Amino acid sequence: MEKPVTERRNPITTNIDVSTPQEIVKLLESCDSEIFSGWGKYKDQNVFSDVVLNTIATVQQLATSLMQDPVRSAVVLSGCGTSGRLAFLLARAMNSRLKETGSNEPCFRYIIAGGDEALFTSQELYEDDPQLGADLLEKATVEKSQVLYVGITCGLSAPFVAGQLDYCIKHLTKYTPVLIGFNPSNLSRKTSIEKWGGKSFYDVMKSYLPVVAEGKAFLINPIVGPEAICGSSRMKGGSITKIILESIFIPALLQSLGGFNSLTMPSIFNIIAGYQAVCRSVYSKSAQIAEAIELSGTCLQSNGHLYYIGHDSIGIMSLIDASECCPTFGSDPTDVNVYLDGGYHTLANQEGDLSVQNRGSDISLKYFNEVVAKHFEESDLIVVLNDDERDVTLTSPSLSKCKTIQIHLNSFGKTKPQLQINNSFINLEMPWNEISDLINCKVAKEWSTAFCEFAAKLVLNAISTGAHILKGKVFQNIMVDLKLSNNKLYHRAIGILTDFTELSQEEAEKQVLRVLYDSDELSQEQLCQPISGRTQIAKRTPKVLPTALLIGINKCSVSEARQILSGHIAVRKAIADNVRHTQ
Ligand code: F6P
Repeated sequence: MEKPVTERRNPITTNIDVSTPQEIVKLLESCDSEIFSGWGKYKDQNVFSDVVLNTIATVQQLATSLMQDPVRSAVVLSGCGTSGRLAFLLARAMNSRLKETGSNEPCFRYIIAGGDEALFTSQELYEDDPQLGADLLEKATVEKSQVLYVGITCGLSAPFVAGQLDYCIKHLTKYTPVLIGFNPSNLSRKTSIEKWGGKSFYDVMKSYLPVVAEGKAFLINPIVGPEAICGSSRMKGGSITKIILESIFIPALLQSLGGFNSLTMPSIFNIIAGYQAVCRSVYSKSAQIAEAIELSGTCLQSNGHLYYIGHDSIGIMSLIDASECCPTFGSDPTDVNVYLDGGYHTLANQEGDLSVQNRGSDISLKYFNEVVAKHFEESDLIVVLNDDERDVTLTSPSLSKCKTIQIHLNSFGKTKPQLQINNSFINLEMPWNEISDLINCKVAKEWSTAFCEFAAKLVLNAISTGAHILKGKVFQNIMVDLKLSNNKLYHRAIGILTDFTELSQEEAEKQVLRVLYDSDELSQEQLCQPISGRTQIAKRTPKVLPTALLIGINKCSVSEARQILSGHIAVRKAIADNVRHTQ
């Protein structure tokens, strides 16, 4: 059976785990270039293909007309994990622009599985609940009569989004659904969804496609190739999601506000080519990015903490980057931290200040300067993100204790002086000469923030991925220490086990259960527990997959596998030594 593209291993990065920082950046650059060139036998379905560009154009027109009637209409963007966070970012930007101009009522809403807490830390259990997705969509749009619903799921896989799509196609007079994902539709997820009558995402797709054929629903699914780290859809998946959302909604907003018409508006092809130019320009700084990876890797290897500090949406990009480090690399929640100038006020999330209910911590720069900075260790590292508009001010004297990387997003070519304290400086200039050939200057300014965010995303993804590779959290190009915290991740882990051992699917699953129940013998009750119960246990059990892999490779007991792991600082080394041992 053909594997979904988003779950395949990218042949480019097979040896990324044993690469130098310089090599890691080059490999990431090659992988990211597939966002624009397309991939493998699906090259015709690339982001510049007619089908993708035409669908974006049609949705853009729909959005423009809907935004002219904001009292009766709404645009709802929804997704899980990074997809939901990017939905939030876009809704936030659009509403803030609408409020600023005062001409139209803010009509964008976002839904993220797990609510606003999921903006910070993954809340994967909610991703598996289709009914919850549908209920939240209904609730968010109760007083509206026309809704443009955008469901984002990179793998065409999230049950939460499946529930919403299913709901939309049952209420087509009110909802126009748009599905964004990066697999061919026949490779959408076929695993049946628990407590949903055995229905799968693929089954929903089978009902959805005829509605697309009728022009009452839309599917935007360019194929961008497998991720650099297998399944890590925060990377290319997140990047192309951002490109698509902004190619639809920035022009729609400008047109709905008036002043721009289809003649002054750049083609969607040129807008996307603008992002491609930004991507090339980012990677032209590969030496500096490699240096930043080196510093971040050293920080994590010596059990230091990484602090991303930023303001406004650039700071939010760092929040999005940091939030996926725990589920992807099995890292500690305190390894990668984020502080934002203005804290929750800047974040402008719909549930407000989460530190009040003790559901989150204070994320403000003030708190960072006054409290966090007092406890710095030499091994800690600060990554400051600035741009032409504003510099983040770091005040604490204890700052001199630890190292600093400064990333400057230079959108208009004004070079700013570096912070005195930084150990590494990445000046990311937006390639305005190239961009102005593609996008008329007056309109191009409207993409300045979006392009800077995109550049920040690429660099931060490279830094956090590279740092975790150096810490030994990746084996070949596999996230060997991922958290099995939802159905998709549970099955991904079993897939990894069957790939690296001689175990059958069934045996691999038992191996996982042995680790979860901490027992070499499994009871009938344990064997029958539904996957949702197992993922709850997995969420609080460390190193499930590495332990199961070692049991599978060495044919040893759970406690013996745990002992091998405890003798290694790097999970990768423990696995690599033992894989080689058996070959
Ligand atoms: O939460 C696990 C996860 O795999 C995240 O890494 C990802 O951002 C999220 O699921 C959403 O995945 P998708 O966009 O494919 O639904």
